[in-house]
Amino acid sequence: MLMPPMRLLVCGGAGYIGSHMCKLLASRGHQVAVLDNLSTGHREAVRWGTLYEGDIADDALLTRMFAEVQPEGVLHFAAKSVVGESVRDPSLYYLNNVTGSLALFEHVRKIPGCPLIFSSTAAIFGSPLSRLINEKHPKEPINPYGRTKLAIEQALQDYWAAYAMPSVSFRYFNAAGADPSGELGEAHEPETHLIPRVLQSVLGMGEPLRIFGEDYDTPDGTCIRDYVHVNDLCMAHLLGLHFLRVHRGAHAFNLGNGEGFSVRDVLRVASEVTGSTIDCEFTDRRPGDPSRLVADSAAARESLGWQPDFPDLAQIIASAWSWHKNRKF
Ligand code: UFG
Repeated sequence: MLMPPMRLLVCGGAGYIGSHMCKLLASRGHQVAVLDNLSTGHREAVRWGTLYEGDIADDALLTRMFAEVQPEGVLHFAAKSVVGESVRDPSLYYLNNVTGSLALFEHVRKIPGCPLIFSSTAAIFGSPLSRLINEKHPKEPINPYGRTKLAIEQALQDYWAAYAMPSVSFRYFNAAGADPSGELGEAHEPETHLIPRVLQSVLGMGEPLRIFGEDYDTPDGTCIRDYVHVNDLCMAHLLGLHFLRVHRGAHAFNLGNGEGFSVRDVLRVASEVTGSTIDCEFTDRRPGDPSRLVADSAAARESLGWQPDFPDLAQIIASAWSWHKNRKF
């Protein structure tokens, strides 16, 4: 893929996926600036570009930053992203994910043709109506998190039609794993995601592991998810930037490996990877959890040439395990 070096702004670049993205961009010769309010991100994760510390909704900061950085592309990862929290406190989600994104776009759209890559989510689809979820699947989110991300996807369609602001939205299925170097990884506080929770329980950290529901309509009664390696997600973003150079418009692609693993599958593979037995207790379902989310990513593969390098769940968990055993932050 031939792409001239660009000045790129990574919003949320101190977070889990954003920090992996910065590393990839820098390795390809791009000049990176990071905007992050460090509410969930880590200063230590910003190693491949200048950090602007503040919020996407801070108009004065963004005015100064856009003047200094003069971005030729924007990657927008900055968001609240925990389903359960969005059910309990939707205002946090509407303010950060909707109001904040629209405030950011006021600056992006002033730069003619500036490409924007947006982190969306499988949660926009709601309960699946087919075994695999492709881009045409109905979009009926069942939690506030999904609704805020869908609202922004729809805004991006309108912004393309009215302002010719090109964009790609990527619907991540379950982002997981860590950079094989061990220098970056998932570090949420508190941690709510399954794979890090399982690995922390092996290390004797955090609350005892609880499994949310064993009465779902799935073969083993636990929820099924499509786990996709964080570096594979990042590579799709790079391909998305490249794609927008030729295919102007507001596009959206689903990103996953197309294979579903139940919570029990994850426990079994994590046990094999760590060589430990994994203790857990089964409790009630968690509000807002669909039973099964598995991507059809044929469109990303065909249109972008995306090909995951880490499609294997054991590989994904092993990379996360290397990080958690020796966390840097
Ligand atoms: N789970 C447990 N115990 C835990 C943590 C998770 O049983 O301690 C279960 C969940 O109930 C779910 C599965 O493990 O069935 C995966 O949960 P995660 O929290 O790791 O991830 P989610 O499936 O909630 O999140 C994903 C994407 C979101 C998307 C969401 C849609 O990461 O972007 O699916 O529901 F919004």
